[in-house]
Amino acid sequence: MLAIAPPMTTAMTDPASPLAIVVLAAGKGTRMKSDLHKVLHPIAGRPMLMHLLASAAELAPQHQVVVAGHGRDQLEKALAGAATIAVQDPQLGTGHAVQQAEAALAGFEGDVLILYGDVPFVRAETMRAMLERLHGADNPAVVVLGFEPADTLQYGRVIAQNGVVAKMVEHKDASEAERACRLCNSGLMAVRGSELFGLLARVGNDNAQGEYYLTDIVNVANGDGRVCAVVVTDDADEVMGINSRGELAIAEARWQDKRRAAAMADGATLVAPETVWFAWDTKVGRDVTIEQNVVFGPGVTVADKVVIHAFSHIEGGSLHEGVSVGPFARIRPGSVLEEGSRIGNFVEMKATRLGKGAKANHLTYLGDADVGESANIGAGTITCNYDGYFKHKTVIGARAFIGSNSSLIAPIKIGADAIVAAGSAVSRDVSDGELRLVRAEQLIKPGWADQFHDAMKKKKADKAKG
Ligand code: UD1
Ligand code: MG
Repeated sequence: MLAIAPPMTTAMTDPASPLAIVVLAAGKGTRMKSDLHKVLHPIAGRPMLMHLLASAAELAPQHQVVVAGHGRDQLEKALAGAATIAVQDPQLGTGHAVQQAEAALAGFEGDVLILYGDVPFVRAETMRAMLERLHGADNPAVVVLGFEPADTLQYGRVIAQNGVVAKMVEHKDASEAERACRLCNSGLMAVRGSELFGLLARVGNDNAQGEYYLTDIVNVANGDGRVCAVVVTDDADEVMGINSRGELAIAEARWQDKRRAAAMADGATLVAPETVWFAWDTKVGRDVTIEQNVVFGPGVTVADKVVIHAFSHIEGGSLHEGVSVGPFARIRPGSVLEEGSRIGNFVEMKATRLGKGAKANHLTYLGDADVGESANIGAGTITCNYDGYFKHKTVIGARAFIGSNSSLIAPIKIGADAIVAAGSAVSRDVSDGELRLVRAEQLIKPGWADQFHDAMKKKKADKAKG
């Protein structure tokens, strides 16, 4: 998957070398046209920055520094202490951005991996390959992650031979011959902490954009006679940058495609895979069937042999073995569907446990409820869980039968094996084995309707005659 040129000889990997990551995220992100920081835009329900930090976490970094400029309050809130924030203000280029991490990394002598917050899908495997190369026998000063895109666009070019970099040049500064070079800079780099800031201090801004280019540390090190290396990934998707809503949608689509393929490879049937949308943390078992147009929000676990019928929306739920859901079901956070339970069309659940084999097949709302084993919830049953101020709990016992169109006014307990008659509005607890019927007494008048029709027809006819 990862092509490294030239084929490496003896890599002197030092697995004990501590790691720091520096994530650049100070750019304005103008093209997103958003009040939300670019790196906090979600892909599969998770901010892109968190996708990146999760991959980096596989390498157990000692330090994580995020360089922030615009919208740094949002980053602080989202990170909640998970990384140190270094402020870059004003933004004078990628090299200047990395310099802002110097104080946070004072005295750190291990490896530094420089990542971009808007390039969220770099694999841990690729990061590892860069660090291994940094400890190669020729002792490179800098390792650059290169790639060969179909279209070289405005990417900086890596002028290299046999994996050794002769020059880094930005598109805007490049000659025609340099622009013809297809090897591009992803932006990601690996450098030793003991060397990084010394190299950066020697970078100037005499270039087409008047910026301090991170890429120039390669040119500075080359000037010292040091080797700089390029590791080339053949997966252009992993170094895809996200700068606009269009690119965000492309990144989402690629992520979903991979996730769908993984679900199928793990033994799930996706009837129309392109219409199923997973969240970053969806767990799907074997022999699961997911029909068309199913959407998963975060926090869903689907056990083996579950069937999810078309047009269901599932978020924050645990579906145990053999459960059946939908079509047109909505499962909200805190829902647990125990083995063999079923919910059918137009059923909504929130913070509810549906016991083993229990059923709610039609048009029902179950909120803040605990439904016992094998209970049957009739069509149109509503748990009235909210009084306008507080939420209240409904507890339904095992094998209870709730007749159609019942309102269960919480807090309330329905006992085991109890029957609630259809159309009841129940506001007091029902004991085990009890029948509760809450309806007005029926008034029966045989023949009344016939007499009524006759009288009215006559009246209408008389009126027509004048
Ligand atoms: C950079 C690289 C280029 C590479 C390209 C890949 C340099 C000089 N150029 O160019 O070789 O092909 O990325 O996408 O490094 N940032 C800051 N502070 C700044 C400027 C940028 O934090 O002052 C951050 C941005 O938020 C972004 C990243 O650095 O995450 C890259 O910035 P961007 O302006 O996109 O760099 P490019 O010009 O595209
Ligand atoms: Mg860019």
